[in-house]
Amino acid sequence: YAPAVAAASPPWWRGARARLLDAAARGTPRYVYHLPSVRAHAQALRALGAVDRWHYALKANPHPALLAALAAAGFGLECVSPGELDAARSHAPQAPRLFTPNFAPRADYAAALAAGELVTLDALHPLQHWGELFAAREIGLRVDLGSGVGHHEKVRTGGSASKFGLPLGDIDAFLALTQRQGARVVVLHAHLGSGVLDAAHWPRVYAQLASLAERIGTLRALNIGGGLGLPQRAGEQPLDLAALDAGLLEIKRAYPQYELWMEPGRYLVAEAGVLLARVTQLKSKDARTYLGVDAGMHTLLRPALYGARHGIVNLTRAEAPADALYQVVGPICESGDVLGSDRRLPAAQEGDVMLIEHAGAYGATMASNYNLRGLPLEEVFE
Ligand code: LLP
Repeated sequence: YAPAVAAASPPWWRGARARLLDAAARGTPRYVYHLPSVRAHAQALRALGAVDRWHYALKANPHPALLAALAAAGFGLECVSPGELDAARSHAPQAPRLFTPNFAPRADYAAALAAGELVTLDALHPLQHWGELFAAREIGLRVDLGSGVGHHEKVRTGGSASKFGLPLGDIDAFLALTQRQGARVVVLHAHLGSGVLDAAHWPRVYAQLASLAERIGTLRALNIGGGLGLPQRAGEQPLDLAALDAGLLEIKRAYPQYELWMEPGRYLVAEAGVLLARVTQLKSKDARTYLGVDAGMHTLLRPALYGARHGIVNLTRAEAPADALYQVVGPICESGDVLGSDRRLPAAQEGDVMLIEHAGAYGATMASNYNLRGLPLEEVFE
C-alpha cells in the first residue's frame, strides 16, 4: 500500500528548496504542483484490490497537467459542471467521465446527455420536468443515506442539513419516473463528505448502498464517493488504506455482481501542492506580531472558510531557529484574512519566501479576484 506516501515520510518540497526559491523569483503568489507526488498517491490507491474503477474528482484541482497525469495512471474523471467536462475532454480525452452536477440548469443536463455522458441525478425534478431528456438513457442515482461526515460542517454532504442526495423515501417515486421514460439506473452513488480519516466509513457506505441495490434491479456499479482525508493537524493518523481495502473486500464477497467505484479528489493532489508567497510587511500590535504575505484568502480560502490548518514555513530561512510567533496574514481587507494563527517561525524580513503546505487540493481552484488582487500563478514540477 505504498507507505512511502504516508505522512511519516518527509514532504517532497524539502528536497526542492532551490527550485522553489527560483520559482518564487518568477512571481508570487504561486502554486507549485509536484507530479511525482500525484503519481505516488494514485499508485497507492490503484493498489486497493477491492475498487474496480477510480474517478478523480477534478473540482479539487483541474490543472491540465494533473488531469493528464491521473488519466495516464488509470483514473476516470468526475465532473460537476460543463466547464469541468470541457477540461476533462480537452486534457484527458481517453479518461471515462462521470457528470454529477447539483441543482444545475436543464441546459447542463441536455448538453451532457447529448454528448453521451453518464449523468447522475439526486432529485426528482429533472425526471418530473425534463423527463424527455432521459428517455432510454442509462443514469446514476445519488442518494442521501441520512448522515454526513467530514473535516468541517460545510463539507458534510449527507443528512438533513445538506442539499445533496435523493432522500431514501423518494427512491420508489424516482424509479417510477425512470420507468416511465424507459431510463435505467445503472450506478447507485453516495458521497457523505470530505476529509475523512476513518477507514471504516466507506465499507459502511458500501454496505448501505448494496442493501438498496436489489430494490433497483438494473444496477451495474456502486459508487461510494470520495472524501479520503490526509492528516493536517498534530495527532491525526493517516487513513489506513490496508484496512479500507480489507473492509471493502469483505462486503464485495457478498455482492460480487456490482462493480465498486470511488471518486477521491483531495487525497490525490493535496500534498503535491504548495503555495509560495512573499513577505510584504511586518507589524507588532498589542500582543501580536503580524507577518504579511502577498497571498491571502483570495489565494487560499480554506483557512478563512473552514478554519483549515496549513503548515507554513519560511523557505528563505529554512535553517534558522523558529523564535518568533506570528499571525500570518494576507493583503485582503477583511479581518478573516488569516492564513495561519500563532505560528512559530524564524524572524522574517520583507521579501522572504513563505511556503504554505498541503495546498494542492481546493487551493487555486477556489481562488478569487477579491479586492481585484488577481488570481495566483501556477506551475508544475516534474
Ligand atoms: N464526489 C463528490 C460527489 C463530491 O462532492 C466531492 C467533493 C468529491 C467526490 C471529492 O471529495 P474529496 O475526495 O476531495 O474529499 N472545498 C472543501 C472540500 C469540498 C469537497 C466538495 N465535494 C475543502 O477545501 O476542504
